[in-house]
Amino acid sequence: MKNNKEYFNPVDLLIRISSFSTLSQIDILGVFDKLNHFGCVILELSSYKNLDDLLYLQNLFGSIAYHPHSETNGIVHVTPNPNQPEYINTTNLEITPHSDGAFELEPPRFVALHCETPAEKGGFSTLVSSQKVYDYLAQESYEGLLTLFDDDAFSIRRDNKQLTRPVFQCRNKKIHMSFRRDQSVNIFVKHQAQRAFDLTNEFLINPKNWVIFTLEPDQILILDNSRILHGRTAFTGDRKLNRLWFNGNSNYKEQYSLGFLPCTQVGKDIFEIVKTKHYNLLEKEAILKDYRYWSWMLRYCHGDYLGACIFKLKRENIGSVATLLDEELMELRNIISQYESITYRLFQPDRFNYFQLGNEYHQLHIHAVPRYKEKRNFCEADFIDKRWGAYPFPIENEISLDLIKKIRSLYKSLIF
Ligand SMILES: [Fe+2]
Repeated sequence: MKNNKEYFNPVDLLIRISSFSTLSQIDILGVFDKLNHFGCVILELSSYKNLDDLLYLQNLFGSIAYHPHSETNGIVHVTPNPNQPEYINTTNLEITPHSDGAFELEPPRFVALHCETPAEKGGFSTLVSSQKVYDYLAQESYEGLLTLFDDDAFSIRRDNKQLTRPVFQCRNKKIHMSFRRDQSVNIFVKHQAQRAFDLTNEFLINPKNWVIFTLEPDQILILDNSRILHGRTAFTGDRKLNRLWFNGNSNYKEQYSLGFLPCTQVGKDIFEIVKTKHYNLLEKEAILKDYRYWSWMLRYCHGDYLGACIFKLKRENIGSVATLLDEELMELRNIISQYESITYRLFQPDRFNYFQLGNEYHQLHIHAVPRYKEKRNFCEADFIDKRWGAYPFPIENEISLDLIKKIRSLYKSLIF
């Protein structure tokens, strides 16, 4: 393994394990420790048996996210295939560092690349940290970086697939990056974002910014797709990798938080601007109904508590419930009574919890959290209240925008 970059050494990413099915708790903690530190990890198997063993990784990284080229078990073979010259993965050409799934509204959270056969010559793996790209852009083009957060920063198109998306997104108070630019896809960048997009590309194609190494047979590189961009150099021979995408929704999701935070002061300043704009917008969109004294809002980011809502007092007040006026209390009681009957009709919770906290956001508001003894399934997504019987710590499990929209419109259609 070799490396020419100071931000991490690939040797530090290595964890040796005997098999996926017998991973100890110490191995698992080690995996998430490396992921938290570097955004990626390399597992090296001492007794590799069969390709299907890779599927055990779902326990750690969530269910498999499928690609049109996936086999039925979800594995994609990344190897030259003359029948698919339009896909860069099935050539032996260089692929510049990129994130996977740029065509998807929800790109895969984790990408795993297992080396079955290394190239005869070339075929080095290349990695770039999204945070390095971000801080470089913050230094070079303050305004440009802001435009890369726009929902319509660029469009990506191939065959009949097209998606318009931002390069950077604010999610769970961190930044996620999604970027791709190579000869096998058509890219349209909006005028205002063009310079920053080109600067991003210049940074990514420059080998000086790569961590570069050979992935050895039976090593598996696993990366946070929003934090580490990956690529490879051109090669000769029959290089074969097996790739899997995961949705991040596993029992270990609290061990790891996806994305990155800026390092430089100017990068932090830009993120503050973006965050404020983003959360103001989310708050506006979250309102289900405005009453005389209260706004009833959907609590959008805690997927584990289906139907969690917030009642926010409209009058400026950072005090506790003891400071509420009689008429405000009366209206709150009516809203809560309606909230419980609608939520019961939709999801049949077994209990309701209410909190007035205000530790981060001081304006007086009440959290309403329905609790569930057993799993609920809504629109094919599972919701498990893992803390049933105990305090409902907020779990930062962002649910898809699509699902939020569905829940919001259901409530809106039932509130009178
Ligand atoms: Fe890729």
